[in-house]
Amino acid sequence: MTHSAERPRVVTTVADIRQLVQSARREGRRIGFVPTMGALHEGHLSLVRAAKEATEFTVVSIFVNPTQFGPQEDFTRYPRTLEADLQLLAAYGVDAVFAPSDQEMYPAGFDSWVEVGGIAAPLEGRCRPGHFRGVATVVLKLFNIVQPDIAWFGQKDYQQALVIQRMVADLNVPVEIRVCPTVREPDGLAMSSRNRYLGPESRQKATILWQALCRAKQLAAGGEKDTAVLAAQLRSMIAAVPGAQIDYVAFVDPQTLTPVRRVDRPVLVALAVRIDGVRLIDNELIAP
Ligand code: PAF
Repeated sequence: MTHSAERPRVVTTVADIRQLVQSARREGRRIGFVPTMGALHEGHLSLVRAAKEATEFTVVSIFVNPTQFGPQEDFTRYPRTLEADLQLLAAYGVDAVFAPSDQEMYPAGFDSWVEVGGIAAPLEGRCRPGHFRGVATVVLKLFNIVQPDIAWFGQKDYQQALVIQRMVADLNVPVEIRVCPTVREPDGLAMSSRNRYLGPESRQKATILWQALCRAKQLAAGGEKDTAVLAAQLRSMIAAVPGAQIDYVAFVDPQTLTPVRRVDRPVLVALAVRIDGVRLIDNELIAP
């Protein structure tokens, strides 16, 4: 990685990003897009690297999207670290950062929404009503604004990637979606902007999510196929951590997210756990 590159160009209006992208396209460059809410970490940067490798003009958006947060959620305290984000991105030769205001994305009178069906209903959809409506709406808007050829998402938000793939297929959005593996800290904690909320003690406890996923994998490989037994094991492991509160421990079909009873084919194990009040999610595919 070189650190010599310049701070990326930041544009805040729809008109300006459209103009930049259009002139890149006229030069025959393909547009790669990484939508983010900022507070960038190695997970985001892995998406940026993938975009840089595959396309000739890379756009990163940084927008903390108010419509995907519930009224009791962390919208106001969500980390906003634009300067540090731009410094990180400078090393990657990103061509443009689109960092619009709330007003630019949701001007007065805004009143159109994207609702994705069944795939958005369980897991995060159940725990965070309205979340995927906000995600699908802002991502479709961003796709319409940036008009990328390819867009990248992380596997940590597995259901989000499925929701976006469903939306793109159903609404004929001309973009290819690519999903990159979850990037983890050395102790296995999935990188997330929300990890910043964890104090040192909670940070230590947060490794239980990855430990539980590894245990599921290990037990399944050792012959335990009954997902009710596996889920019970994971639940008791997580519950033994003081301050850990389970939102869900789910064994589901990786394509449909419907519950599966036996690990007799690839199964997605998905977790949402609050550690001392900080809500974290993680997932892993396990095979028989
Ligand atoms: O994954 C995220 O950071 C957000 O949900 C996204 C896709 C940028 C939409 O706001």
